Amino acid sequence: MSRSPEVRLADVDDPMLERLLELAQLDASADDVTPPLSNGTGWNAERIDWFLAYHRSAAAGLEGPAAEKSWAVLCDGSPAGAIRLKLTDAETAQHETAETGIWLGRSYRGHGVGGAALRLVLAEARRAGLHRVVAKTTAANIGAQRLLTAAGAVLTHDDGGAVCAVVDLSHWRQ
Ligand SMILES: CC(C)(COP(=O)(O)OP(=O)(O)OC[C@H]1O[C@@H](n2cnc3c(N)ncnc32)[C@H](O)[C@@H]1OP(=O)(O)O)[C@@H](O)C(=O)NCCC(=O)NCCS
Repeated sequence: MSRSPEVRLADVDDPMLERLLELAQLDASADDVTPPLSNGTGWNAERIDWFLAYHRSAAAGLEGPAAEKSWAVLCDGSPAGAIRLKLTDAETAQHETAETGIWLGRSYRGHGVGGAALRLVLAEARRAGLHRVVAKTTAANIGAQRLLTAAGAVLTHDDGGAVCAVVDLSHWRQ
């Protein structure tokens, strides 16, 4: 990887989805990428089916039935992970808030790729007219908390170890 990798977001069409799945299985833990499904923490058929269905339903974007959009994170042109936005108030007349989530392959972590991808997705959210972007993580996930704080999020910790992050886009500068 170059010292200052070029980071871009790309739509997840079927060829990109295949490349993302390969990356996820080879270079990320299933728990970083999918919800806990079936027994065990590793990759299994149910998690792969979830991964494919999830990105296909998110292809229609924030205005689509899933009210969600996912992008491949490209690092120097290669898929490095994925990032998403999902409206949390899709049922209301005015859409103001979306939740984000991100995972990167292990070999792409720690080089500023996550921070750059998050800034790009916040810019997408602002272009879509949203007012805030939220994210959930855990007290144990120091990397995610640092990433979110560096992007301008305010973090709130609850007693159960959950951490909620809020980026107010009216005060956010790229
Ligand atoms: C969280 C994740 C996306 C971070 O991506 P990344 O490219 O490694 O992050 P960056 O290199 O852009 O670092 C952003 C900031 O977080 C810090 N950071 C990143 N990983 C860290 C870690 N494991 N421990 C401590 N700090 C960390 C960096 O030092 C940097 O801080 P700074 O801006 O104050 O210098 C990546 O580690 C990942 O995919 N993790 C698994 C999935 C996950 O936890 N997703 C988050 C769910 S909200």
